[in-house]
Amino acid sequence: METLDWKSLPFGYIKTDYNVRCYYRNGQWGELEISSSEYINLHMAATALHYGQEAFEGMKVFMGKDGQIRLFRWDENSRRMKTSAEGIMMAEVPDDLFHKAILTTVQMNKRFVPPYGSGASLYIRPLLIGSGAQVGVKEASEYLFLVFVTPVGPYFKEGFRPVNMMITRTYDRAAPLGTGYIKVGGNYAASLRALDVAHKKGYASVLFLDAREKKYIDEAGPANFFAIKNNTYVTPKSKSILPSIINKSLQQIAKDMGMNVEIRPVPVEELDTFDEVGACGTAAVISPVRSIVDESTGKTYQISKNDEPGAISRQLYEKLTGIQTGDLPDPYGWIEFVE
Ligand code: PLP
Ligand code: COI
Repeated sequence: METLDWKSLPFGYIKTDYNVRCYYRNGQWGELEISSSEYINLHMAATALHYGQEAFEGMKVFMGKDGQIRLFRWDENSRRMKTSAEGIMMAEVPDDLFHKAILTTVQMNKRFVPPYGSGASLYIRPLLIGSGAQVGVKEASEYLFLVFVTPVGPYFKEGFRPVNMMITRTYDRAAPLGTGYIKVGGNYAASLRALDVAHKKGYASVLFLDAREKKYIDEAGPANFFAIKNNTYVTPKSKSILPSIINKSLQQIAKDMGMNVEIRPVPVEELDTFDEVGACGTAAVISPVRSIVDESTGKTYQISKNDEPGAISRQLYEKLTGIQTGDLPDPYGWIEFVE
């Protein structure tokens, strides 16, 4: 293979050797198939194409200093994919199938796991789609579960450096009782225009507010929001945000650092009071936030005075990535080794 420049990988698609597929037909899952094609053969009336029956996941594996490949908290992703399936009437992927599929895909593509110290990782993308044909609005009776991997660098090109964000009051990503709590494609389609506005204005991402009142912070594009003040880790409680596994992990780490954790509505004005703000997720890891501009009022919330990540965000980042890469012990049982 042409050698990849591991240290400057973007967060993007790179072709690997194999992916795996499994079909759900006649009420049951079939055998896992290994494929080297990047394409799928799909019925033109598949519900995924017309009615958005589609959910995906995102996980990473890391190469340790010891040459071992570490998979982070896959069981949480498996659980979330079941919640997504249930939310939009798709067949659920059982844990053992999910596990076997991601392990097989990583094992078959070991040469794409970025080396220790490169800052890059192998991103696993499980995908579940309605593949059966319907023309009326109705769930499919056939599904395709597919897993591919791709080596990735940082999601925000700045990496672990402070970025500027923009609050949108023009667009909502998810309705209060809609599908914001699950990882379905429609939420991302709904976020594209707001993200484009933010990017064109030079912001790294967009902060969505609660759709009902526009008073509280929901989440930061494809990542959860957290903030630090008074030895407390604060993160929004909202029915329309995706329950982030990295956020959950950071809450645990913060508690073990002796901090308080508050999961509650976070009013926009509270931004003036935080010492540190960050966006967190599998792709984003932690993205420290320097400033946030409210699109409609023009008000700027200046979070950090200089261009460095805050001290607590740095500790959280180092503990999390230390566990992921094996530089630090894993007291929580979050890591599974891929043989
Ligand atoms: N919020 C959204 C909308 C996301 O797409 C993601 C990415 O998965 C996250 C938050 C972060 O979730 P996790 O930490 O489980 O990757
Ligand atoms: C992730 O963090 O895994 C994501 O899915 C974010 C984005 C690439 C959709």
